[in-house]
Order: sequence, then structure tokens, then C-alpha cells
Amino acid sequence: MIKPHGSAELDPRFVYDTARHHALSREAESLPSLLLNSAAAANAVMLGAGYFNPLTGYMNLADTLSVADNLKTAGGLFWPVPVVNLTRETGIKAGSRIALRDPNVEGQPVLAVMDVQAVETITPAQVEAVAAKIFGTLDPKHPGVATFTGLGNTLLSGPIEVLNFSYFQADFPDTFRTAVEIRNEIAERGWKKVVAFQTRNPMHRAHEELCRMAQERLGADGIVVHMLLGKLKEGDIPAPVRDACIRTMVEHYFPANTVMVTGYGFDMLYAGPREAVLHAVFRQNMGADYLIVGRDHAGVGSYYGPFDAQTIFDEKVPAGALQIQIFRADNTAFSKKLGRVVMMREAPDHKPEDFINLSGTKVREMLGQGIAPPPEFSRPEVAKVLMDYYQSIGG
Ligand code: ADX
Repeated sequence: MIKPHGSAELDPRFVYDTARHHALSREAESLPSLLLNSAAAANAVMLGAGYFNPLTGYMNLADTLSVADNLKTAGGLFWPVPVVNLTRETGIKAGSRIALRDPNVEGQPVLAVMDVQAVETITPAQVEAVAAKIFGTLDPKHPGVATFTGLGNTLLSGPIEVLNFSYFQADFPDTFRTAVEIRNEIAERGWKKVVAFQTRNPMHRAHEELCRMAQERLGADGIVVHMLLGKLKEGDIPAPVRDACIRTMVEHYFPANTVMVTGYGFDMLYAGPREAVLHAVFRQNMGADYLIVGRDHAGVGSYYGPFDAQTIFDEKVPAGALQIQIFRADNTAFSKKLGRVVMMREAPDHKPEDFINLSGTKVREMLGQGIAPPPEFSRPEVAKVLMDYYQSIGG
């Protein structure tokens, strides 16, 4: 199986040893607490689950600036997006141990214990410089920029030990998986070549066909559909509904044992190209050989060019930095002439009006108006799940 990023073995920060887990949980009760923001909590979950291998905790200022500028830490590790614990709290001392509390679970239980190696101030100008590099814009209307620039100016760095997986394990017991679990399941299934599919959508026809095309063309044994289970922007479809749609689609339209439906606990950054590279890093960590990257991957609005998330792999990812490869998908649309979903560059005889462009945004617009997405957009079984949801919220 493909090696994890940056180390021979996966080294998740979750504490698997029961005695150690027990001791840490007890110690945490008497430690000073920090209530995390959702972004830092999501980073802890990803570190715990092995997805952010080989990182051991939150980055310091030097690493944060270096990753933003050069996609590598000060020590030279290839990494595309800073993994930070930014806070407005100022009373925490370097050298202390603190309990990190979960903002997303009732009662704010301890999510992780942190060894605070450094407490540094990141100036507003540095926050802006980092945001500009990561998101390619400083527009406060960009959801990722708005979140990142509002997290605070104190940067706490150091290793963490993770005690649980926040709300993801309880809320998505059938779908949330750690990188360790996905590696194990790939091995159990005997899959040798694996394609990962990132999604934050209920998987419309374009998504489905991209998976099928990638599997066939690469001769892959299986596809790991890996959906985001964390926070999204207003208007995106909630994770339980997406999960139900994806399971319905896979059950009806893919042969048994060719697709694993899984998810990870992270909030969407909407960082387009940079997030695509982060996606590749953590799919390598979970054992995937390829990641599908299509049109406007991890994008929002019109901040990124449609294929910027592919070209970044040529421009900013040095040869050998990652082992995982990218399956580049062209704009995928429904051909009225052929009666099926195609990659547009593969239908050169088509005129623009021969295509129906498929997009999640368009489907959400239809659903918002009470219109069931037609079969060119969504499978009927999936459309039903979506319509039931929109009716339930009075959409
Ligand atoms: S994402 O933010 O998670 O990337 P989404 O769930 O819509 O959004 O997309 C999942 C993957 O499918 C991404 O790689 C995206 O580029 C690709 N994709 C979605 N729709 C299309 C399409 N019509 N043509 C080509 N690629 C697409």
C-alpha cells in the first residue's frame, strides 16, 4: 500500500493505549482549559485520525508563514495549508500543558491535551498575508477568509494527544472513519489500486460518472468516497442528507464491493487549489493512490479558475513531494446528443447547447424552488431523498 506522507508508518495522534487514555483524561480535568474554535478543533480531529501525518500538533509562527509562502514547514516538510490553533485567549504560558475543549459538543468535553511549546503573536498583517496565500483573496465575503481572519492573534503551537473524535463518531457512526481504519479496510478488501473521491455534495450524476470514469481508466480496484462531515457554508446540504444520498446512489448504481462510503471530520476551507493539495496529502495518508480533482475543486463563488486546483499540482508541488497522483477530470456534463454524462473535451463535435451543465449549485437552486432535479442531474432515488429534505425544512 502507498506510504503515508512524510513517514514510513502512520502515526495518528489519537491515544489508543487505554491506560494512557485513562491517565490523560484524568490529568486533563486538573489542567488549565482552552475552549477551541471549530477550525482548531477540526485540526485536532484530523491529527487524531492520522490524516495529518506526520504532523504531531499545531504549527508555530515560522512554520505557518513558511507553509503559506512555500508549501513547506521551516524544517522542509511539504505541507500546503497551515495547521494552527489561533485563539483570542492571552493567558496561556509556553511550557504549560493545557486541556483543549470542544466547542462543538455539548458540555465542551476535553478533545485533546496539548504541550504548549510556544505562545506567539501573529500580527494582523501576518494573518492577512497568510490568508492571501491560502485563499488567493482577502475578500471578507469569501467564507474561508472570513473564518480565518477572525480566529484571533495568539498562536499556540506544540504537540497534542487526542482523546476522541468530537461529534463525528457519535453523529456518523457508519461513515466517519480515521485514516487508520480506511487503510485497514483497504487491506481487508484486498484492493491494490485505490481512487479517492472528495465531496461536499450529495453526489449528482457528474460526481457519480467521475468516479466511474476514474475507476475504469485507472484500472482501480475500488473507490473511496470520502465526504466532508464538518462545517460548511450557509445553503450547502447538511452531512446526514448528503450521506443518505450517496449511500442510495452507490447501492443502486455501483457493483457491490467496489465503493467504500466514508467521511472525515474537518470544516470546509473553500481554499480551492491549496485545499486540493491538502486533500491529496490526507488521501495519501488514508491509503489512496489517486485523488480525483475536477472542475473548481473545493472552490466557492468565482474566486478560482475552473482548473486552478489541477494546475497547482504542476506549479507548486515539487516532484516527489507526494506519492499520491491526481486523476484530472475535465468539465463533466450531460450530453443531450449521447444521452449520457461525458467529459466535455471528449465530445469535440458538440456545440455548447448540446450539453446540460451539471453543478451542485444548480441542483440546490432547483431544490430551493421545490423543483425535483431531473434525471440528467440526479438519480431519481437521490432526487427523492433531496426533495424529502427540502420539504422537511419548508424549502
Ligand atoms: S468539493 O468542494 O468537495 O470539491 P464537490 O463535492 O462539488 O465539491 O466536488 C467533488 C469533486 O467533483 C471535485 O473534484 C470537483 O472538482 C468535481 N466535480 C464536481 N462537479 C463537476 C463537473 N461538473 N465537472 C467536473 N468535475 C466536477
